[in-house]
Amino acid sequence: MSNGAVPENPLLKNLERVLITREQIDVRLDELGAQISRDYEGQALVLISILKGGIVFLADLSRRITVPHALDLIGATSYRGGTKTTGRVIITKDAELDLRGRHILLVEDVLDTGHTLNVVIELLRIQEPASIEICCLLDKKVDRAIRIPVKYTGFQIGDEFVVGYGLDYKEHYRNLDCIAVLAAHAIEGN
Ligand code: IMP
Ligand code: MG
Repeated sequence: MSNGAVPENPLLKNLERVLITREQIDVRLDELGAQISRDYEGQALVLISILKGGIVFLADLSRRITVPHALDLIGATSYRGGTKTTGRVIITKDAELDLRGRHILLVEDVLDTGHTLNVVIELLRIQEPASIEICCLLDKKVDRAIRIPVKYTGFQIGDEFVVGYGLDYKEHYRNLDCIAVLAAHAIEGN
């Protein structure tokens, strides 16, 4: 029987260090929400997130945006369960709304090589929206294979594999409140 104590999250022992705290994320979310609300005033805005990593960010950001907006989801995957992209992006789910003439803001967890967003933008262009802009929580400082113009960035980070706040390693860690670097012992093959 439970004694009422909150159990410790066992995933925490697999983290090497916290890169961005929940408090830092909250402050940045307030700033981004305010900025987006100003920029899109009076416009038909649709926030589209990319499954699955972007959904935590989408849920929190959407509630800080004061202008009316719709939500939609696209499924895309390029990872095959490891820490390196395969570079081959597979669309697993298309958007459901009619996007013609609407202003799309793509809400993505992390921009790494740029392959995912490149494919998603091409897919969305077919619907002839009024505009497509990108809001990504994390912008990795890497030599990008493809140049992607990002309008709103949460944080710049180094070329490290991170987890938490929607980001996973082998489908775990998405539920962590912070963004953290995994300890080497938690990565298979190390
Ligand atoms: P890109 O296509 O290389 O830009 O990678 C984008 C996708 O790869 C993201 O949407 C994430 O799903 C995944 N990804 C890239 N870097 C990381 C990371 O550090 N942790 C977890 N997932 C990542
Ligand atoms: Mg993702």
